Amino acid sequence: MEIIAFFNLKGGVGKTTSAVNIAWHAANEGIPTLIWDLDPQGAASWLLKSKTKSKAEPKRFLSGKTPMGKLVKSTDYDNLDIIPADFSYRHIDQQLAIQNEQGQHNIIRTLIEPFGENYALIILDCPPSFSLLTEQIFDTADSLFVPIIPTHLSLRTFEQTRNFFKEHKLKPKRLHAFFTMVDRRRNLHRIMLEHPPAMLKNGLPTPIPYAAVVERMGDHRAPLPAFDKHSAVSKAYSQLWQDIKETLAEFNR
Ligand SMILES: Nc1ncnc2c1ncn2[C@@H]1O[C@H](COP(=O)(O)OP(=O)(O)O)[C@@H](O)[C@H]1O
Ligand SMILES: [Mg+2]
Repeated sequence: MEIIAFFNLKGGVGKTTSAVNIAWHAANEGIPTLIWDLDPQGAASWLLKSKTKSKAEPKRFLSGKTPMGKLVKSTDYDNLDIIPADFSYRHIDQQLAIQNEQGQHNIIRTLIEPFGENYALIILDCPPSFSLLTEQIFDTADSLFVPIIPTHLSLRTFEQTRNFFKEHKLKPKRLHAFFTMVDRRRNLHRIMLEHPPAMLKNGLPTPIPYAAVVERMGDHRAPLPAFDKHSAVSKAYSQLWQDIKETLAEFNR
């Protein structure tokens, strides 16, 4: 089982869009895939037409009262299941802090591990913050993919994440940035793509262009390739999945 996460300290940069599209590509190749929507805004759950069941509050599943298996829902797609987010996920950190004090330091990993029996790929869609939850995700994920809009400020937040990794003795090599919402008519975007800064040397090669069709995922409530396979952005996501696979030991033997 490989565990990957889409993370950025910033919101609105394409984490959820990427998580949902990559999940579709993995599942479409026959890889049993589970996406866990960890953002209380629940955008991935909404895009995959999934609602939480009752008893999905963090207090219940983090303490083991609700078994994780009970929270899994199927989607409209073969090989793709989801643990939808509940609005109560906004309280996850409070519960993690309580359990931290009791000596339970990585509950998220403990909860995910048993899924190895049924899934080959776990995709975590993260909220945009540094928190106890994201620290546990940093510790749990084999690889983290960081969508970056080509601007100086976005690079700065990526650098902050890398520094956090170094300070906490986490391997920054597990962080893979990739460009999203690229608009080649913009000078800065073109310059950054042509001369990527050194800190992106471990990044994924395929940039995701800015394209209005991506917004239509919300009209269809579906991953992009489920209703559009031929646009440049859809092809870019297909290529990005190939890039991601190359970083994952399990699918790259
Ligand atoms: N490549 C793209 N081109 C155009 N719009 C995009 C692209 N990627 C994402 N979006 C749009 O940007 C908004 C934020 O994307 P989202 O994936 O929800 O970001 P995040 O999860 O980082 O908050 C959404 O409305 C989404 O449809
Ligand atoms: Mg999101």
